[in-house]
Amino acid sequence: MCGIVGYIGEGSACDVLIDGLSRLEYRGYDSAGIAVRNSDGVIKVVRAKGRLKALEDKIASSGGVEGTSGIGHTRWATHGEPSEYNAHPHTSYGGTVTGVHNGIIENYLELREKLTRHGFSFRSDTDTETAIDLVEYYLMKYRGGPADAIAKAMVRIRGSYALALMFSDEPDRIWVARKDSPIIIGTADGESYIASDVPAILKYTRDVYYIGNLEIACIEAGKAVFYNIDGELIEKEPVHITWDADSAEKGGFEHFMIKEIHEESRVVNDTLNSVIKGENGKYIDLSAAGISDSYIKNISRITIAACGSAYHVGINLQYVMEDLARIPVRVEFASEFRYRKPVLDSDELFIVISQSGETADSLAALREAKKQGVNTLGIVNVVGSSIAREADSVFYTLAGPEIAVATTKAYAAQLAAGYVLSIQFAKVRGTINEDEYVRLISELQTIPEKIQSILRNKDRIQYFAAKYSNAHDVFFIGRGIDYAMALEGSLKMKEVSYIHSEAYAAAELKHGTISLIEDGTLVIGILTQPGLFEKTLSNLVECKSRGAFLMAIAPESREDISAYVDLVELIPDIDSHFTGSLDVVPMQLLGYYLGVARGFDVDKPRNLAKSVTVE
Ligand code: AGP
Repeated sequence: MCGIVGYIGEGSACDVLIDGLSRLEYRGYDSAGIAVRNSDGVIKVVRAKGRLKALEDKIASSGGVEGTSGIGHTRWATHGEPSEYNAHPHTSYGGTVTGVHNGIIENYLELREKLTRHGFSFRSDTDTETAIDLVEYYLMKYRGGPADAIAKAMVRIRGSYALALMFSDEPDRIWVARKDSPIIIGTADGESYIASDVPAILKYTRDVYYIGNLEIACIEAGKAVFYNIDGELIEKEPVHITWDADSAEKGGFEHFMIKEIHEESRVVNDTLNSVIKGENGKYIDLSAAGISDSYIKNISRITIAACGSAYHVGINLQYVMEDLARIPVRVEFASEFRYRKPVLDSDELFIVISQSGETADSLAALREAKKQGVNTLGIVNVVGSSIAREADSVFYTLAGPEIAVATTKAYAAQLAAGYVLSIQFAKVRGTINEDEYVRLISELQTIPEKIQSILRNKDRIQYFAAKYSNAHDVFFIGRGIDYAMALEGSLKMKEVSYIHSEAYAAAELKHGTISLIEDGTLVIGILTQPGLFEKTLSNLVECKSRGAFLMAIAPESREDISAYVDLVELIPDIDSHFTGSLDVVPMQLLGYYLGVARGFDVDKPRNLAKSVTVE
């Protein structure tokens, strides 16, 4: 996710762009840049790696940037590591188009080949540059003007994009095109503004135009004209924004955590679609993660090392990978692994899971595995982070910047990454047939909508949290994959609401800990695994007979559980390997609403940090 701003008016474009970017840094902060057209019509581009401050310093040291129209960008790297030469804005090969982009050009390699055949060469590692060059290619080839060139490029591009483009021979205009990635236009008092999100322009105008998918906009000072991809004019009414500036950064949500829970559907979709290819016969392509079929066939076993929620993803994947691919998997706390002189197979795959890619213990575990000559794979969210750079190969989760300390959307994307690895490993090693392969891929692609359906009923969880905000010593129990989810549910509750809770393998509870169950103790059971449902239910009933208040999370097809427990949260049915992507949502919501009910800062819980870069 990146941030885009644009401006045309009478004032200093540089000031408006920097101010706008400062309100969009939550969307990404690997690098930033602006392109401003001066009074002679010359476009000056200034870019800098790192936070926006680095760009401001560079602008100041270069004597400032004058001009009344321009575009700006703050980057969350997806293709090409964070650097100045990968920073936006990018200028086309022939210098006629300068632009910024938010999104992913999925077929950028194919487009690069096409452009290379037509004499283009490239100045960055980004997919963005390819999109901008493609516009120039059509501009030069057909001489139909910006709208025509942009529309032709949109037809050719696969992926998601919000593009803001300046053309060397159109000094009074900025063009915008959109598919999936958000971008808005604001106009006020003879000036026009472009932004990825409302916060960047709210101080200038509260009346904004939302650009729809496959639409194009031409912005001049104080006015905007909209077209569809066929070049036909579109009438649009402005929307009046009522949010205050601060809440707008959260997209109207009260906290980043709840906003990011609501982004889970999209990030799971993006992460899955970064490797699921094919129009008719779907298949998984792990080549971008550097994993070949020949390599998969020779893996003797898998070790997963991680911390916190990422560790819980590993526990979940142990069940999924072993069941589907029949490869032995062990999961280690990275902090333990690094010190216990582990014995590794030369043919094993070492996977480290990390949102930040900077967790000290996880990085140390990775280095230990590399020291033993083992092949390593990082499942990482931050492009160019230490773990991403040091692992032999990387599977990037496309969750975008995760601001809340308690991970939710990155966790969801990590699970999705693990599912596709498990399915592809199973297919290549022949432990599932073609029909099962196709079925599992198809089942995976139902996750985003099923997450959305759970969120549509989130008020039930909010009500329950209000009732139970004084709970203490809560137990989460489950078997198999449900145990892995109990671990994550318990952590969310602890880290956001400060209510003590424990996660237990359901059958294990009776080996001592059940002595803690007393009248009113809240026990939350997760029961999504068909072969284990009755057994976990028995464990819940054992707790009930000792006074516990029971909440169950179960599939809609098992609504019958309502007869045995005090509260049921039903989730859509899905293949039992993937239930974790769904039952985690009510537990994330429960932790969040409990924290809110108890009056805590749910985005920055006490004692925590977003990335634990110390031992
Ligand atoms: C999760 O909500 C916590 N913030 C924490 O457990 C986190 O998952 C852990 O510190 C690992 O972080 P990483 O994924 O960035 O390595």
